[in-house]
Amino acid sequence: MERLEGDLNGKVAIVTGAASGIGAATARELVARGARVVLADIDDVRGAELAAELGSQSVYLHTDVCREADIAGAVDLAVDRFGRLDCMVNNAGRVGRWTFLPDTPAAEWDEVFALLARSVFLGIKHAARVMRDQHSGSIVNIASVAAVRTGFGPHPYGAAKAAALQLTRSAAAELAEHMIRVNALVPGGVATRIVGHGAGLTGAELDRSVEAVRDSLHKFQPLPRAGEGDDVAHAVAFLASDQSSFITGQELGVDGGLTLGRPWPSNYLAEARAAAQPTS
Ligand SMILES: NC(=O)c1ccc[n+]([C@@H]2O[C@H](COP(=O)([O-])OP(=O)(O)OC[C@H]3O[C@@H](n4cnc5c(N)ncnc54)[C@H](O)[C@@H]3O)[C@@H](O)[C@H]2O)c1
Repeated sequence: MERLEGDLNGKVAIVTGAASGIGAATARELVARGARVVLADIDDVRGAELAAELGSQSVYLHTDVCREADIAGAVDLAVDRFGRLDCMVNNAGRVGRWTFLPDTPAAEWDEVFALLARSVFLGIKHAARVMRDQHSGSIVNIASVAAVRTGFGPHPYGAAKAAALQLTRSAAAELAEHMIRVNALVPGGVATRIVGHGAGLTGAELDRSVEAVRDSLHKFQPLPRAGEGDDVAHAVAFLASDQSSFITGQELGVDGGLTLGRPWPSNYLAEARAAAQPTS
């Protein structure tokens, strides 16, 4: 697909979880459109590789989003290196373990909330201190269909993503007077390493798992193809751009129709007519 080159010229962004999947696609898209990007992740090898690929428009920083000092450091680096902060993408995440409620350790709940909900709070908090002085900014939180439907993630994962959605709304309401917008994306099935990572795969096996996930997602939703990192990246770029300057507090599904409801049988009418025929 053709890129809208140059519409993010002069803008500065931070992408957490930028070393892989949706975050890496987003960093590439923002840079291709003219932005400069702080790549924030804990995967130093892949983070450094992406920074080398993207050149002087990017910088990698080891950033554990569960640590407030790390997030504050990423925001400070954006300002020190590039002079400002226009877009904060709170994206880092993992799925966690699928367990029945009676078997779910409280520590797992706490860890998942720290990674998927508290981190979004911290990202908003530290981005807002810079954006408030600039009197402009766009914050994009990456949620999940698991926030709005059951069965797409473990209990702590869905609850933490739902918390991120509610924080998106309340933050948008508070920060609007400073011209800071806060929106969320709600991806469906996207072919990334997140499933393999959750299954404990590493190295080349983890990289290879993306193709298997892509195949399995072909019929996961009404649109018959897997979601790709670029699908989410394009939506982030729109929300980072001035074209979305009157949009705040919203959640946008990027899910190929996954949340529409029950599958629509293509032979529905034929079946209904057949059922209506009198039996001889
Ligand atoms: N892939 C999907 O189907 C899907 C669907 C809905 C939502 N999401 C969400 O999208 C986001 C990105 O996931 P992805 O699919 O690209 O996965 P991914 O595994 O490809 O990438 C996740 C990145 O987050 C980083 N990360 C993990 N813990 C971190 C931490 N504590 N601090 C900083 N970085 C950390 C990882 O190192 C990795 O680079 C996640 O929040 C995920 O929940 C993904």
